[in-house]
Amino acid sequence: MSARRIQVDPTHPQEEAIDEAASVLASGGLVAFPTETVYGLGADALDAGAVGRIFKAKGRPADNPIIVHIADARDVGLLAAEVPSQALPLIDRWWPGPLTLVLPALDSVPAVTRGGLRTVAVRMPAHKVALALIRASGCPVAAPSANRSGRPSPTTARHVIEDLGASVDLVLDGGPTPVGVESTVLDVTGPVPVLLRPGGVGLEALEAAVGRVIVAGAGPGPADTGEMLARSPGTRYRHYAPRARVVLVDAPADESPARVAEAVRGLWEQGLRVGVMVTSESAPAVPAGAVVRVMGRRADPAGIASNLFAQMRELDEAGLGAIVAEGIGEEGVGRAVMDRLRRAAGVV
Ligand code: TXA
Ligand code: MG
Repeated sequence: MSARRIQVDPTHPQEEAIDEAASVLASGGLVAFPTETVYGLGADALDAGAVGRIFKAKGRPADNPIIVHIADARDVGLLAAEVPSQALPLIDRWWPGPLTLVLPALDSVPAVTRGGLRTVAVRMPAHKVALALIRASGCPVAAPSANRSGRPSPTTARHVIEDLGASVDLVLDGGPTPVGVESTVLDVTGPVPVLLRPGGVGLEALEAAVGRVIVAGAGPGPADTGEMLARSPGTRYRHYAPRARVVLVDAPADESPARVAEAVRGLWEQGLRVGVMVTSESAPAVPAGAVVRVMGRRADPAGIASNLFAQMRELDEAGLGAIVAEGIGEEGVGRAVMDRLRRAAGVV
């Protein structure tokens, strides 16, 4: 059995499709829908039973909280006890957009949605289908990425169905998601904002908007304490792990093509079938015989991000022994690309 799937126009979503999906949410069901980042697996965020079904469908650990999606920035008041003043310029600039804010939660947000924490993660997605669905449902929508736990996030409806099949009631198919990596998660509950997960909004842009930002996991300081790990539960789990071994080649741009080629030959010597994810610049250096996916130009991390998860899935299906992934610069969304590649390679 597979989920029911309805095609929707990503820029002018059909009202009937949206109404049908909204009624599934209202009756406690699960709807997968496109956002600008990746597909989400949605349920009424205030219905503990419905949110419980998300955890079951994904095989998600119960202590990993879920992002709640709203269609109007003012609705943050339905979820957060307080919006710290440092969050206001961020909301102004990036809602709707790929920025999730961790805020002190109201008690009315079910504990299951918050993974037992006292905070709630909120975002307003920049996608017509997501916004129309949230508006029509009349409730905030809890939605993690619509993959099985540990798999790359889905950027097409087909990925959702491959992973979740009949455990989702309805899939709104609005085509591929444009950003391709998940939202940036920023904790604004303390005096200095903490970047918990790099994503669609780059660190430099956040710093330009609010001044200092602490990067969780980067060197000594409060970001590395056990408390911070508890505040960022998703970072504890291995993600995006393909069946094949992933080898990350993280070299300066001028050395990168030769290092990729060397890594491929080394894995061949071990008798492995090898796949490669490379920049356009390094593609000509890949020795013939490897299964190649070209991620995009090094100078265009946004283009690379939009291809990343689909290419991981394609290579994972090719029955390879190893995948060589080429690293890129950390600027802008490049930081999120590198984070996902490091997780796939098991180096974080
Ligand atoms: O782009 C996205 O963010 C997508 C789309 C569907 O909106 N959603 C998504 O959700 O990536 P998910 O569940 O795959 O990742 C949510 C991340 C996890 O790392 C989780 O631990 C963290 O956000 N998170 C959620 N609530 C939190 C909270 N209250 N405090 C700290 N981290 C939280
Ligand atoms: Mg996820």
